[in-house]
Amino acid sequence: MSGTRGMVLGLGLVCALCLRPVMGQAPSFDHLSDADRQVFQQRFEKEVWPLLQRGGKDGCVGCHSQGKIVSSLRFRGDAGKDFAMLLKEGFFLPDDAGSLLSRVTDPDPKRRMPPGKLPAWSEADIKVLRTFVADLDRKQK
Ligand code: HEC
Repeated sequence: MSGTRGMVLGLGLVCALCLRPVMGQAPSFDHLSDADRQVFQQRFEKEVWPLLQRGGKDGCVGCHSQGKIVSSLRFRGDAGKDFAMLLKEGFFLPDDAGSLLSRVTDPDPKRRMPPGKLPAWSEADIKVLRTFVADLDRKQK
């Protein structure tokens, strides 16, 4: 009997594994220690969040929290929760074409964020994000 149960459990496990991608359980890019995560969340709230939030509807957070646009980036408008989301979903990666830093610095005006006629970030603003991303990346395990 226990053999059958083992088999059923085994099948259940295999199914749970194969269903993971179907259920949208993406892998996490958060490999920080708890202590580092706390430090970087505080830094994020102080240094990066004001840049993302400014501009109201025309800002990063404002536009990326509306239902109207189609993007995998969805802000909730809460610095702590949005930090966790950005970290987990890989938006802080230094070298990913879909990350915050890549899109803010993209030389292609069709890809550069914010889009259209909205003013590009200044060098000083970009440096804040670039430094944050580099420091965070160094702590990833
Ligand atoms: C007026 C609306 C608007 C504003 C403001 C805006 N975005 Fe976007 N963003 C979009 C749309 C629409 C897309 C999806 C199309 C594309 O990839 O270009 C997008 C895509 C992105 C992506 C790629 C995520 C994905 O969907 O793959 C990132 C990262 C991003 N934006 C970051 C930012 C940042 C950072 C800012 C602020 C500097 C910003 N955006 C401001 C509309 C906006």
